Amino acid sequence: MHSSCKDKTSVLKENLLIVSQREIAPRIFEMKLSGEMVMDMAPGQFLHLRVPDPSKLLRRPISICQIDKVNKVATIVYRVERAGTAILSQLKAGDRVDTMGPQGNGFDLSVVSAGQKALLIGGGIGVPPLVETAKQLAAKGVEVISVLGFANKDAVILEEALSAYGKVYVTTDDGSYGTKGYVSTVVDELTKEYSFDAIYSCGAPGMLKYVDQKFENHPHAYLSMESRMACGMGACYACVVHLKNAQDAANQRVCEDGPVFETGKIIL
Ligand SMILES: Cc1cc2nc3c(=O)[nH]c(=O)nc-3n(C[C@H](O)[C@H](O)[C@H](O)COP(=O)(O)OP(=O)(O)OC[C@H]3O[C@@H](n4cnc5c(N)ncnc54)[C@H](O)[C@@H]3O)c2cc1C
Ligand code: FES
Repeated sequence: MHSSCKDKTSVLKENLLIVSQREIAPRIFEMKLSGEMVMDMAPGQFLHLRVPDPSKLLRRPISICQIDKVNKVATIVYRVERAGTAILSQLKAGDRVDTMGPQGNGFDLSVVSAGQKALLIGGGIGVPPLVETAKQLAAKGVEVISVLGFANKDAVILEEALSAYGKVYVTTDDGSYGTKGYVSTVVDELTKEYSFDAIYSCGAPGMLKYVDQKFENHPHAYLSMESRMACGMGACYACVVHLKNAQDAANQRVCEDGPVFETGKIIL
């Protein structure tokens, strides 16, 4: 029976069942969730999870990492930061998580077609949404190249998952794995060799700023942004970012108008 329901803002709310939860790197957890909501999910969207603790009123936004519509299972990968994510990490298979979603616009994969090339750029805990993106691009016949940046070897996640869909380059800040340096070290070399038809990125503000500047005039380059959220469904304006061109609508809500924005548009 379909247990999810649409509220007045057309956002689904469902108590998703935890199928499994495991720590895949220090403080980084992979949680598999099952429910009808999975059928509506797209790459680059996120889930808004209620922390099962009465003192935690605000939901926590976490990106969708993988979508399995056959088994109605979605995977999220998150890092324990403070109390809310620490509580989520204690949940076990069989528990349920009150979830709103899928939220946000997601990555536009329609701009590339078979035979074209896409560059995926991820930093740290920004890598998860790129996995489903890579999967769906590869399924369309798009050549996928990923460049992933991490602080050090211990923090490397999802390299293997992304390798299933194309070539993956890893950088670490301290050189303990892959190329020493930031993603820019590899991206600057790759762009001398190839021209990419689309760029999809998610990561820390510094990395997004680099991608924004480098691909400012690219017609299909996208940044997935983070912002503190309250309602998570477009009503409260807690999550706004501002457009560079003040003649455009002044505020963009990361939860509703984003989290994905074109390069060159947002003040970072
Ligand atoms: C669209 C989106 C997608 C995200 N996807 C992922 C993901 O896939 N994996 C992952 O590990 N993290 C992701 N984050 C960040 C994640 O939401 C925060 O790390 C998490 O909310 C921290 O909760 P906490 O209770 O541990 O920390 P606290 O600092 O105690 O949280 C207090 C409040 O601040 C908010 N907050 C804290 N840090 C952030 C942050 N970086 N971004 C937004 N709100 C924050 C919390 O949601 C909460 O409302 C995403 C954030 C956004 C906006
Ligand atoms: S969090 Fe309320 S509008 Fe985005």
